[in-house]
Amino acid sequence: MTKLAILEYPDPRLRTRAEPVAKVDDAVRQLVDDLLETMYSANGIGLAATQVDVHRRVLVLDVSDARDQPRVFINPEIVDAQGRGPGEEGCLSVPGIYDKLQRATSVRVRALDRDGRTFELQADGLLAICIQHEIDHLEGRLFVDYLSELKRQMIRRRLEKERKQRADGAERPSRALGAAARRPVVPAL
Ligand code: NI
Repeated sequence: MTKLAILEYPDPRLRTRAEPVAKVDDAVRQLVDDLLETMYSANGIGLAATQVDVHRRVLVLDVSDARDQPRVFINPEIVDAQGRGPGEEGCLSVPGIYDKLQRATSVRVRALDRDGRTFELQADGLLAICIQHEIDHLEGRLFVDYLSELKRQMIRRRLEKERKQRADGAERPSRALGAAARRPVVPAL
């Protein structure tokens, strides 16, 4: 397994719409393994292929406390969504930034697993938020798109400043440790 580099906002490649996977083959399974490795090593709870500059509809999640329940979704589609509520989100592509936004509180998702078999999953709470967040990545959308332009400007400036500090050899402030998503997210209501 290979740990891949995660693109960071406002990298324009994060705006690419991912292509469906035609066949779940060994190359796709390798991508799944690399996404999991990358997600776990960044302490994330979800990662979409878009974030590592691979524009295929593949995402991985693990919202378990023990970090031992990887979930794989290939060509995921939300087939039903219910309710609407606020939740706090972070993103490995927008490190150190958290904000509240509204999402469906319960979704039914259909996808292929790593063996290419179709499955459906009813998800609510944190898992529902994560699925919506990661599918957005495959569409080229980021959670900051739901915030005001003023907030996005502040976020861009802050990330820019942190990148510059890193380039100058400074440590990234601990609150921004790429870990965007180590239990960042308050369970949805
Ligand atoms: Ni994200």
